Amino acid sequence: MRDKDQGASKESRQSGRFKPVTIADMNHRSNLSLRAEATRPFYVMELLARAAAREPVYGPSISMVVGEPDFPPPAPVIRAAQQVLELGDIHYTHALGMPELRQAIAADYLRRDGLSVEMNRIAITSGASGALLLVMAAILNPGDEVLIPDPSYPCNREFVSAMGGVVRTIAVDASTDFQPTVAAVEQAWGPRTRALLVASPGNPTGTLLGPQQAQLLAGAVRRLGGLMIIDEIYQRLVFDGSPRSLLTLGEDIISVNSFSKTFSMTGWRLGWLVAPAEIVAAIERLSQNLYISPASLSQRAALAAFDPESLEIAETYRQRFKAQGSYLLAELQRLGFGLPAAPHGAFYGYCDVSGLTDDSYQFCLDLCDRAGVLMTPGRDFGDHQPKRYVRVSYTKPLTVLQEGIDRINRFLNKG
Ligand SMILES: Cc1ncc(COP(=O)(O)O)c(C=O)c1O
Repeated sequence: MRDKDQGASKESRQSGRFKPVTIADMNHRSNLSLRAEATRPFYVMELLARAAAREPVYGPSISMVVGEPDFPPPAPVIRAAQQVLELGDIHYTHALGMPELRQAIAADYLRRDGLSVEMNRIAITSGASGALLLVMAAILNPGDEVLIPDPSYPCNREFVSAMGGVVRTIAVDASTDFQPTVAAVEQAWGPRTRALLVASPGNPTGTLLGPQQAQLLAGAVRRLGGLMIIDEIYQRLVFDGSPRSLLTLGEDIISVNSFSKTFSMTGWRLGWLVAPAEIVAAIERLSQNLYISPASLSQRAALAAFDPESLEIAETYRQRFKAQGSYLLAELQRLGFGLPAAPHGAFYGYCDVSGLTDDSYQFCLDLCDRAGVLMTPGRDFGDHQPKRYVRVSYTKPLTVLQEGIDRINRFLNKG
């Protein structure tokens, strides 16, 4: 696997800023764009390759790296997709998605969050990934900056730089639940900064941006003249209670969401965003040109995700993640893993392994090679204290996680 540091300069990596392309860079001879070369691969891919290589001898590894639910989509979604396939009526849709689906999403905000969201603020997209790309395309000029916490979802930096933007990271830690503070945002904000991108619950930590903190941040971003983008892909997977969408903070908030995690529909590549109407109007033109429309089969099927039966099934998934997480994280802590900020949602825990190793990446490699258990090294999520952390995911059933714990126990010689 190519070393990621070949792509972006060491200096840019250390300062947490990704620089725009310079003339000197242009002299570089390659068939690949500098952007393509600078795109970081995931270090976890190295682990998956090693796990595949050892499998014929040692059998399958226990994966705690997966970022997707292990369940099928709710049965009504499958039935709806089968009916659409039988009719064969699968064509382009409106670039912002089928009006019925946008309406169903609006109705769900009303039901769930008590929020009235006009249709002209909703766009259906190809996953939250498509939503984030389109938002960046709609708001960034070349060289404009977006503030992103470090650690955070690794693709965020690529969404920004693919659209000519520059990422400025804000180092966060457990003292603030891995969420940025107003002071840190104000300090990082510069003349070219356009937006703050946060996630609640976040990946890799599962921690929330509490309503008060979110309100303070939104106020600060407004005062600074920028936009607050909130990735709420795990919002419906909060373990206790059902916090309202942070769209409640105001109509200037941009919220990104998806069918991927809540409804176990990762492969259907369907998500949505809510944004001010003028941004959605720009996104309509952009999506027309960039990919015409989101997938029609997935949109028709996703309509059934809001059936009461589907919502009930999704609720059982949420309960399963909660139970799996409380088992896995308690057992890992018993074995010496730290959990400085307990997750409140999603299906991740960001564990401090500094009591077990001084290099979390090497720890992950050894755990893979010697125990057949896979965890994601902190370096996949940023440059702030990456050697200290691993991300575990608990999407697999309890029996699998139990086997994983037995293996880790033996690996650490504590069993
Ligand atoms: C925080 C976060 N945002 C966005 C995504 C992309 O999800 P989608 O499948 O909807 O494109 C992921 C996927 O893991 C994620 O964890």
